[in-house]
Amino acid sequence: MAKREKLSMEPYKGVRDFYPEDQFIQRYLFEHMERVCELFGYEEYAASVLEPSELYRSKTSEEIVNEQTYTFTDRGDREVTLRPEMTPTLARMVAARAREIPFPARWYTIANVFRYERPQKGRLREHWQLNADIVGSPGVEADAEVIAMAHGILRSMSAEERDFEIRVSDRRILDAIYDSVGIEAGQRAAVTHILDRRAKMDDFEKELGELVDSSAQKLIEELERTTSSAYLEDLRVKLGHMGINNMIVDTKITRGFDYYTGMVFEVFDTDENNRRSLFGGGRYDNLLASFGGGSIPAVGFGMGDVTARDFLEAHNLLPVYAPATELMIAIVETDATAHAVQLAQSLRREDVTIAVNFSGKRIGDQIKQADKMRIPFVIAVGAKERESGRYAVKNLATGNEITLPADRIAEHLFSSLG
Ligand code: HAM
Repeated sequence: MAKREKLSMEPYKGVRDFYPEDQFIQRYLFEHMERVCELFGYEEYAASVLEPSELYRSKTSEEIVNEQTYTFTDRGDREVTLRPEMTPTLARMVAARAREIPFPARWYTIANVFRYERPQKGRLREHWQLNADIVGSPGVEADAEVIAMAHGILRSMSAEERDFEIRVSDRRILDAIYDSVGIEAGQRAAVTHILDRRAKMDDFEKELGELVDSSAQKLIEELERTTSSAYLEDLRVKLGHMGINNMIVDTKITRGFDYYTGMVFEVFDTDENNRRSLFGGGRYDNLLASFGGGSIPAVGFGMGDVTARDFLEAHNLLPVYAPATELMIAIVETDATAHAVQLAQSLRREDVTIAVNFSGKRIGDQIKQADKMRIPFVIAVGAKERESGRYAVKNLATGNEITLPADRIAEHLFSSLG
């Protein structure tokens, strides 16, 4: 018989498996994101990863649509795309119920999105992205609010203001500069794109020159010269009122998507070894109108798990892994199995999280396993425990042991775990 080819154990290129230790960090991130969103009054929503491809045409960015989407034709000849971002989905959902939804709507989701990118540090083909958006609020307060949330999430995970900076600009500044140096309407999206990729490009000036000839130099100079606007200074004041003092105006921030119309921002890590954009967002007041209803202003941001995790790592802020399991019940001899399982069931009713060890291994090995899994407590159940109804509860971190009847165990664990 022919030898079977072994299956690869690698995940698909550019995507990740989440082993329990990874998923622990993921949960930590998501819980902080969710908590801060809810503190700001945002409601959770969700949608399928599959969208009709036309949703992205002309509304997102050419680079993403033409080069970075996972698009296929389904068995019914429909063109389908795995969502590369959430904003078009959010806009579609809100537009579909615009008559019923009370505005402003504050919505958030943590969604996996897919982009066919060259995998590298901070960039993968699937990542998870918090999106928080406020729809139906045209003013500077809403701009300040979404920035405050991005700030609040980092602060909630123990980052200090000096660990990151919020770089803000405004598409209206860019438009005014385009007007003044004479960049035509038809070229603007492409120019904005090049500006967005500027920091990552070797031949930025050459490419820009090819696009707009002699205007390139003037454009670069104008961008350097423009330091702020009355609107952005007002935004700074509003952020100050919210206790946020690490905003800087940076007219080099343009953002890649075509739908932005006003304030745009990116949060940067200030660590020398991780000086990169962590997340970003901005105002898009015309996107909802593309569904045919009226125009509804919107502003929001996306915060990716990959960059967030790198940030926490760079600043030594990653949480230490602890499994949800509080107690392992080890079985000394097989006769004690039924008793051990019953004890586990009664403690679960008191909310203790328990793994019963059925391995039949030596008791010392069972305890070693609990230790390796970082389960904090062990109870060994054998003949003595069955007869007496009293159990030695061992704390693996301290080595302390205390003998208790079943109805005192839960209380003891909870008080020791704090
Ligand atoms: P974006 O800047 O394309 O914006 O993505 C937001 C964040 O998602 C990035 O700052 C980064 O944290 C993460 N991210 C993006 N691409 C990747 C990737 N290939 N690998 C890992 N992480 C990545 C948007 O998507 C906008 N729709 C955000 C938005 C919401 N604007 C308004 N509302």
